[in-house]
Amino acid sequence: MSSRIIAVEPFDLIVFGGAGDLAYRKLLPALYHRHRDEQIPNEARIIGVSRRGMSDDEYREATAKALREHVAANELEEPVLKGFLDRLHFVSVDAKSEAGWNDLAAILEDGKDRIRAFYLAVDPTLFGTISARLGEELLVTPKTRVIIEKPIGHDLESAREVNDAVGQVFEESQIYRIDHYLGKETVQNLMALRFANALFEPLWNADHIDHVQITVAETLGVEGRGAYYDNSGALRDIVQNHIVQLLCLVAMEPPAHMDADSVRDEKLKVIRALVPIDEKNAGSVTVRGQYRAGNIGGASVPSYLSEIEGGQSATETFVGIKAEIGNWRWAGVPFYLRTGKRLAARVSEIVIAFKRIPHSIFDQGAGDVHPNQLVIRLQPDEGVKLWLMIKDPGPGGMRLVYVPLDMSFAQAFKVRSPDAYERLILDVIRGNQTLFMRRDEVEAAWKWIDPILEAWGSASEPPKPYSAGTWGPSASFSLLGDRTWHDLVE
Ligand code: BG6
Repeated sequence: MSSRIIAVEPFDLIVFGGAGDLAYRKLLPALYHRHRDEQIPNEARIIGVSRRGMSDDEYREATAKALREHVAANELEEPVLKGFLDRLHFVSVDAKSEAGWNDLAAILEDGKDRIRAFYLAVDPTLFGTISARLGEELLVTPKTRVIIEKPIGHDLESAREVNDAVGQVFEESQIYRIDHYLGKETVQNLMALRFANALFEPLWNADHIDHVQITVAETLGVEGRGAYYDNSGALRDIVQNHIVQLLCLVAMEPPAHMDADSVRDEKLKVIRALVPIDEKNAGSVTVRGQYRAGNIGGASVPSYLSEIEGGQSATETFVGIKAEIGNWRWAGVPFYLRTGKRLAARVSEIVIAFKRIPHSIFDQGAGDVHPNQLVIRLQPDEGVKLWLMIKDPGPGGMRLVYVPLDMSFAQAFKVRSPDAYERLILDVIRGNQTLFMRRDEVEAAWKWIDPILEAWGSASEPPKPYSAGTWGPSASFSLLGDRTWHDLVE
């Protein structure tokens, strides 16, 4: 694998929230892997920033502990780990007061001509405050970028406020809004599959596709994020960003090039073409659910209400939506979207369900002729399966069987599949915005989501209960009418 690794330019990555959960769980392990593959040049520094007081050595120690938890033991060689820890520095800064800003300016002075990336792994209410401060302290050089995580606002208006505040200091070309789903290997493969093969594109439209399913299913509950989650819910947490982005990659027109704006222009057109869902149709095309106690993989799990403070909530932990894209390519093709916490398995996948053959030449004894399906599995067991009808081998006349042409990436390529953050952080350093959400995309997505939230609010119907360990409320099955959800644990 290392033969394909291209080193990046020297950089300083400054992580606000450097001693927080995202940094320890995702960002530092991702950077460790890139360091281990020798993709990060010697001079590059990673500077953790937080209100907490810590010395460089204490930060290195805490990071080593986190890496031992989040990186596979056979990938943690001591000399490599030491080399990585030597890159780390820590500066204590209080985003809301004067404390520490001079220290941060002093450490950055050493690398003032390099690429500088500020990663704001902090509460989104601080995005504007920190950006303004970085501007006032003159820490924003022409080679500076800022990385912000979702949620970008909790509706259109608040998203605009966040974008305005960050935009006062940074140009749009300097702002990297992360949606980590876009960094997943198979999500990018979707673009390769569609645009590097002549096979699919002629069929990729309402003439040949019956419907599309996008599922992001989790077994996890709210995991100590109850306060955030209860204000958010599944629609804001997963649909507004991850699922809408997946839908865009499935549905967009071929961009003229792979550059950031060509791709993002096409995605934006898809979001703008989503048929509105509001109080007139929300009742028939959306389903919201909330998990009750149940059993997952043999272990009993508590209800949502007992996992959050106060024990009362109308927040949805499951959403099912029948979405439609109002354009020539997709008119009349339902896009069934669903996501939920505490479902029966952790699976994310996209199913492209093709239409039935127009006429069968086989007699009844041959068995049913199933429509073809292209199943793109994001996780776990990343890969692509193309379900086809073939003749059952052997004697006994013409009997048909439905089998997958199976391309499991782990088996086909025998490489570790990099975590989304590994790719995304280095794309920031390279200055490649293709896999990041542009301001207009985020705002257009909220414009589609807001009326759904309003419709749910005014209907004042509580979310439908489902037992943990199932596939969500039964209403999510009726959403499909005569069709059925693809079996995720085949
Ligand atoms: C995050 C959500 O964006 O995505 C979480 O806030 C969710 O609630 C997570 O658990 C899922 O990500 P992944 O990569 O584990 O599918």
